[in-house]
Amino acid sequence: MKFSIDPGNPEFFNNPYPVYEEMRSHGPAIYWEDYSMTCFTQYEPVNLALRERKFGRDFSATLTRKEVGLPEIKPHVKSFYDFDRHSLLELEPPAHTRLRKLINRAFLSRHIEKLRPEIEILAHKLIDEFPTNGDFDLLSLYAEKIPVIVISRLLGIPEEMSDQLLIWSHNMVAMYQFNRSREIEDAAVIATDAFSNFMRSYTEQRRNQPADDLISLLIAAREDGQQLSEDELITTCILLLNAGHEATVHAIGNGVKALLQAGPETRYEFGNFPDKFRNVDELMRYDPPLHMFTRYVLEDTEMAGVSLKKGQTIGLLLGAANHDGQKYENPTKIDFERGGIGHVGFGAGIHFCIGAPLARLEMQIAIDVLFERLPNLQLAETPIYADRFHFHGLEKLMLTK
Ligand code: HEM
Repeated sequence: MKFSIDPGNPEFFNNPYPVYEEMRSHGPAIYWEDYSMTCFTQYEPVNLALRERKFGRDFSATLTRKEVGLPEIKPHVKSFYDFDRHSLLELEPPAHTRLRKLINRAFLSRHIEKLRPEIEILAHKLIDEFPTNGDFDLLSLYAEKIPVIVISRLLGIPEEMSDQLLIWSHNMVAMYQFNRSREIEDAAVIATDAFSNFMRSYTEQRRNQPADDLISLLIAAREDGQQLSEDELITTCILLLNAGHEATVHAIGNGVKALLQAGPETRYEFGNFPDKFRNVDELMRYDPPLHMFTRYVLEDTEMAGVSLKKGQTIGLLLGAANHDGQKYENPTKIDFERGGIGHVGFGAGIHFCIGAPLARLEMQIAIDVLFERLPNLQLAETPIYADRFHFHGLEKLMLTK
């Protein structure tokens, strides 16, 4: 079934869920003409496709760029892709398995939970600094600050670098945007080079002076006698910094907006339901910050009755899957009882978000502390989402105390 909707249409990116409903009514997948891509929209096939090894993030073992419809990499963006190919997110087993195991040690829930007291202190400190009078933007003063400071600390990068890291990171992730321009590509390459150079000299310093941080742990990490190569180390640090904050910022923003719009009863429930992480997961199900991931089809196959050809790219619409009425009763309502069980906002399968324990902790603390300190918070204006369909996050979130 062919389907057309411009991802840059404000009515759509501000509230894609009614369109998703229509997409799902046509069956497990639609052919999204604006992306020239088959996209799965229902929960079951999206969840299965994320776990299915016939679909991969990396095609290079069996297919050429031409076979998957990609142009050759242009010289002006080469350094970005040289960096990107070592990224955990872009690898498949066995390279993925080795790297993921090394990184995973640092992200185990029991290690992450130890960060709770310092994240709480940080949230309180940021709220202390809110302007005393007038409306303020929660995104820039709070939601953007917590994740970047926390991930910088975790990695062991000086906090003063946070603003610079944010700029590099924004410029790099813009490469994944639909219809990117030459300006975006140039800015991403400049950011990649600058970020890599910074990380290279910084990790060198850490190599000589190990500390109690993730960079030192990654440097020391050995598995079967194998260390991370220099390039893997740099790319992993940058990936963790980028992935470690971009989505969390918007998960906090979307969550606060959703609670304010749902009203005091839902806000009360959020603060008082016993399983805090399930509350966060329900918010993630309800309005996740990442809406589309793609996979390459690695062999001719079929999914939910849809035939797929080797070399084809498929879209997996996480936001649509999370609102599938066949999986979630009354999906447009926040329901902490169901606790977002099984939602795909963090993905699934081998690429399931490695930072999910950290993201959940940050969201839970950020939202709980905010409403505990400022119980009368209200929206000062209607929040508008940014024109970046697959990064579903607000431009700003103006609030009144
Ligand atoms: C609410 C915030 C977050 C959301 C919604 C989110 C979502 C996701 C999703 C959907 C994937 C899977 C992508 C795919 O299958 O193609 C993913 C992977 C990943 N995420 Fe997150 N993420 C969040 C926070 C974080 C944090 C805090 C970190 C790190 C500190 C992180 C690091 C990663 C990494 C490294 C991967 C790649 C894992 C792999 O390929 O094995 N994410 N994330």
